[in-house]
Amino acid sequence: PVLVVDFGAQYAQLIARRVREAGLFSEVIPHTATAEEVAEKDPRAIVLSGGPSSVNEEGAPALSAGVLDLDVPVFGICYGFQMLARAFGGTVSKTGRREYGSTVATVAEDGGALLDGVSGEQKVWMSHADSVTDAPAGFSVLAATASTPIAAFEDRARKCAGVQWHPEVLHSENGQKVLENFLFEVAGLEADWTDQSIIEDQVARIREQVGDKKLICGLSGGVDSAVAAALVHRAVGDQLTCVFVDHGLLREGERRQVEEDFVGSTGVRLVTVDAVDTFLGELDGVTDPEMKRKIIGREFIRSFEQTAADLVAESREGESGDIEFLVQGTLYPDVVESGGGAGTANIKSHHNVGGLPEDLQFQLVEPLRELFKDEVRAIGRALGLPENIVGRQPFPGPGLGIRIVGAVSAERLAILRRADAIAREELTQAGLDDEIWQCPVVLLADVRSVGVQGDGRTYGHPIVLRPVSSEDAMTADWTRVPFDVLAQISNRITNEVDEVNRVVLDVTSKPPGTIEWE
Ligand code: XMP
Repeated sequence: PVLVVDFGAQYAQLIARRVREAGLFSEVIPHTATAEEVAEKDPRAIVLSGGPSSVNEEGAPALSAGVLDLDVPVFGICYGFQMLARAFGGTVSKTGRREYGSTVATVAEDGGALLDGVSGEQKVWMSHADSVTDAPAGFSVLAATASTPIAAFEDRARKCAGVQWHPEVLHSENGQKVLENFLFEVAGLEADWTDQSIIEDQVARIREQVGDKKLICGLSGGVDSAVAAALVHRAVGDQLTCVFVDHGLLREGERRQVEEDFVGSTGVRLVTVDAVDTFLGELDGVTDPEMKRKIIGREFIRSFEQTAADLVAESREGESGDIEFLVQGTLYPDVVESGGGAGTANIKSHHNVGGLPEDLQFQLVEPLRELFKDEVRAIGRALGLPENIVGRQPFPGPGLGIRIVGAVSAERLAILRRADAIAREELTQAGLDDEIWQCPVVLLADVRSVGVQGDGRTYGHPIVLRPVSSEDAMTADWTRVPFDVLAQISNRITNEVDEVNRVVLDVTSKPPGTIEWE
């Protein structure tokens, strides 16, 4: 892989995505990894990420000794750029000239291999307080900004290069080009990470992991579990049985989509479990979001275990063994956000990671654990899944349960389900599905406000619309949905859903808000 060393930046994962977009497998590793651990991964190149610290500070995150002696091409970004400068004998100083946000970088006459095809003035995205004031011997300086004379450098003999700005963010002009120049021109690598190679690789790994044992997979109706199931089905066929738990927290039409469209396109064996009463019983009166997530996660697994036991009992006569494996559509960002990554805070317990009970009776098969959402969609298409499944907006495993602020009940779910269906219908109708990453619709069940309808006073609940645009759900911005579309959604919801007398729009980016309200 191309290893991205994480120095505590939000950007490490984004860098890994960009490297993959360039056609090379990439993984994020903590900066604490030792030289041996790094060498074991047999890296083709190493990218040093940005980070919030200052390289000159006592105790600032550093590379482990020996990593730079592994004779692997290295690219430093922001903090990583400064670290590289220092490691090879350059100087990093606090110049008092900070740069945050969009900055103009002027590329030198000879932009070298790194900035080949990138010339003149470039708008780049910066976030730094320290600057490289002396480039190390052997490095040529390739770009400067008004306050940073050394903003990019390379040493082709060492196959090392770096930039002070963040080429991985979309606001940096030619960012992808710069990254690809490093990978292909400076490091001399060749692209080989494709949908087909991912599928082949995963199919082989799944076969190796499960042998001739049986598996079950919980389908949520979402893209991830569908693609995970389709991959496993490709690998081991009817050793897989899919289970769809109707927990009562689903949106309108969801059950039919799974039972008809997914099964129709894959031929997967499906069992639907009706567990509405159990879930609503367990959730009764629970208002704490983490509690809800834990309960839903636990009940999910219990439903699977029960179903698996039933399936085994049914086939006791035959040659079939126990069901030993559970397939989950866990994605790379889920793993990192649940504290699986290095030094990343636990923000929420995603139900398929943090919420697993300790006495889990299955071994996990998680074929998407290394993948980002857009890669999952691409391989779903390559596996022949229909667009209405792979193109679906993300929907959280805990479903509408975490979109009711307050306790969950059948009545409240019915209100939310209706409002959600209206919002989705109107957004689709307005052609906004591509622009919007997802639009949670949230019921503030414990909030009431006064309204007037007809001649009467009402005292109803608000519905929140949370349309967001994002690339990977790690960061997001609220989508500027046209006012007339919002007006139409608001009119319809307040007219058609009796208990709702107010519709409000969430205009918060992530960070600071998460996408879901709970
Ligand atoms: P947040 O709210 O953390 O959401 O900004 C990021 C993305 O993850 C989805 N999400 C979940 N998905 N199980 C899931 O499968 C969960 O427990 C869960 N919580 C949030 C959310 O819809 C958004 O796409």
